[in-house]
Amino acid sequence: MAFPPSFIDELIARNPIEDVVGQYVSLKRSGGNLFGLCPFHGEKTASFSVAPDKGIYYCFGCHKGGGAVNFMMEVEGLSYPDAVRALAKRAGMQVPEDEQYQSRYRQQERLWALHKEAARFFHTQLYAPNGKEALEYALGRGMPKSTLTTFGVGYAPDSWDALVKEMQAKGYTQQELIDSGLVTVSRKNGNIFDRFRDRLMFPIIDVRGNVIGFGGRIMNNKDPNAAKYLNSPETLIFNKRKNLFGLNMAKKSKLGYLILVEGYMDAIALHQYGFDCAVASLGTSLTEEHAALLSRYTEQLYLIYDGDEAGQRAAQRAIPMLEKAGIQIKVLRMRDAKDPDEFLKKFGADRFKILLEQSSNRVEYQLNAIRAKYDLREDDQKIRYVQEAAELICTLGSFVKREVYGGRVAESAGISAEAMKLEVDKAYKRRIAKEKKQQEKIDLAPARALQPKERSIRYDNMKSALAEEDVIAQILREPAMLEHCKHLAGSQFSVPLLGKVYDQLVIRYGSGMEVSPAVLEDLSAEETSHITGIYHRRQSPVNENAFRDCVKIILAEQQGRAVSSDDDLLALRNKLKESKGTKV
Ligand code: UTP
Ligand code: MN
Repeated sequence: MAFPPSFIDELIARNPIEDVVGQYVSLKRSGGNLFGLCPFHGEKTASFSVAPDKGIYYCFGCHKGGGAVNFMMEVEGLSYPDAVRALAKRAGMQVPEDEQYQSRYRQQERLWALHKEAARFFHTQLYAPNGKEALEYALGRGMPKSTLTTFGVGYAPDSWDALVKEMQAKGYTQQELIDSGLVTVSRKNGNIFDRFRDRLMFPIIDVRGNVIGFGGRIMNNKDPNAAKYLNSPETLIFNKRKNLFGLNMAKKSKLGYLILVEGYMDAIALHQYGFDCAVASLGTSLTEEHAALLSRYTEQLYLIYDGDEAGQRAAQRAIPMLEKAGIQIKVLRMRDAKDPDEFLKKFGADRFKILLEQSSNRVEYQLNAIRAKYDLREDDQKIRYVQEAAELICTLGSFVKREVYGGRVAESAGISAEAMKLEVDKAYKRRIAKEKKQQEKIDLAPARALQPKERSIRYDNMKSALAEEDVIAQILREPAMLEHCKHLAGSQFSVPLLGKVYDQLVIRYGSGMEVSPAVLEDLSAEETSHITGIYHRRQSPVNENAFRDCVKIILAEQQGRAVSSDDDLLALRNKLKESKGTKV
C-alpha cells in the first residue's frame, strides 16, 4: 500500500491544505492560521484550524486532524490509497501504483463486476418461468415493474448452483465466488453452492454506484426456521456498518432532508410514493459510521422506526449518534400501521406528508417516551415522571427551551410551572455535582486521563508513552532533533503506533524529505488524528536536554521490559526444573 515518499511529498506540495479543506469549509484567516466550522462535528464557533505552513488541519473540539490525505479520508470516507488517488487527480498527477495495492484494487473491481453480473442475473430470473411466483409476490406487495427496475429487484432461483454456474460461465473463479459471499462452502466436501435460494433479491448499492451486496427476502414461510431476510456477509467490498440501503438514490433527492427507516421494503415504498430521500439500515442498528455518512448528505433527518418496542428502542439509541454527527432529527412514531410501507399502502402519500409535518423533534419524542412509562393517575408515578422529565429538560442548552418543555410537562402532570422549574433546577444541580465527581475521579487517576481519546490506541506504559509523545512532537517541530537519538529505534517504543511514526520520520529525515504530520503513511484516520493532536498539545519549545531525557526514559523503560521478560523466562525455567525434579 506504500507509495514512494517522493511522490507523497509532491502530492502534498501540489495540494495546499487550505485549498483542499477550502472546498468543504469556508475559512477565515487569523494570524498565520485559518479557522472555520469543523466539518466533522456540529459546532457554532470555529474551533477547526488549518496551518498552511505545516500542511495540516486540527479541530480543537473533536480532535480530528492530519494532512490533506487524512482530510480526504475523513471527509469523503475514503481509504488511504483512494484518498491519495483523489488528490492526485485533483492536481493532475499520475499515481505510481504499488503492486500490492493494485492487486487489492483489482480484486475489489472484480467483486464489483461480479455483483453487477449477479444482480443482472437475478433480475432476469424474475421474468423467467421459474420466477413467476416471485414476480407475483413482488407485484402483490405493491411494487410495480417500474419500481422493480429502478431498484434492480431480482429473484434467486430455488437451486443449489444456478448462480455458481452462471458466474463460472462468465469466467469468475471459485475463489472469487467465495470472496464475494454469494456462495457458501460445504463443510463436508468443500464444494460451493448458492447462498441465496428462492428469495426475492434487493441489491445494495454504495454511494459510488457499485453493487456491494444483497438482501434476500423469503417469499412465503415455507420453512419456519429460515430467516425472513438473509443479507450478504461482510466482504472486501461490503461493510454493513458503513453502508445504507438506498443512499445511492437518496443522495440525489431535491427534498432537502433524508428519511431513515428500518426495512428495505419501507425505503422502496417511500421512493415509490415520492419520498425519494429514504434510506434503510441493513439489518443492524445504526452505527456511528452510518451517522457520519448521513451527515455528509443532510442536516435534517426524519427517523421513522417501526412502532413496536424494538423499533422504539432502536430509535432511542440512534438519536444521540445522529445528534453527535450534527444532524437535526425529527422522530416519527408509526401509528395505525406497523411500518411506513404498510402506512403508505393503507393511507397514501398525502397522509404520510401530514405525518412528517406533525413529527416531533427529539425532545418532544423523548418526553413522550418518558410519559408513556408512567400512569399519571397515581401520585408516586406522577412524581417519578416529573423527576425523569426534569432530568432530560435540564440538559437543554437554552433557557427558552427549558421554559417551553418544562411548561408542557407541568401541564401534563397538573403541577405549576414554578414547581416544575424548581424540579429542573434541582436536576441540573444533581447533574453538575455528578459531573464534578466524575471529573475529580479522573483527576485522581491521571494515568487514565492521559489515555488517548482515540479508543483504538492504548498506552500500557504511561511514563514511556509520554516521553515518546514528546520525542515525536519535538521532531515534528524541529526534525534536526533526530541527530540526538541515533541509538533509538521505533521497535524500542512502548506504543507501536508512535514507534512506527518515529521510523517513518527517521527515513524521511535521512533522505532529506519533508517531515510533518501531513506526510505520514499507512495510518488510519484515527491514528493520524492522534499524532496531529500530540503535535498541537505539546507546544513547549524544542529543547535538546529535555529531548535527550525523553530518549533516555524510552530506552530505560524498554530495558525494564526486556529484563522483566528475562525474569519471567528464568522463573519459568526454574519451575520446569522443579516439576521435573518432583516427577523423577
Ligand atoms: P422487518 O421484519 O420489519 O421487515 O425487518 P420489513 O422490512 O417490514 O419486511 P417486510 O415488509 O415483512 O418484507 C426490518 C429489517 O430488518 C432486517 C432487514 O434489513 C429488514 O428490512 N432483517 C429482518 C434482517 O436482516 N433479517 C431478518 O430475518 C429480519
Ligand atoms: Mn414491512
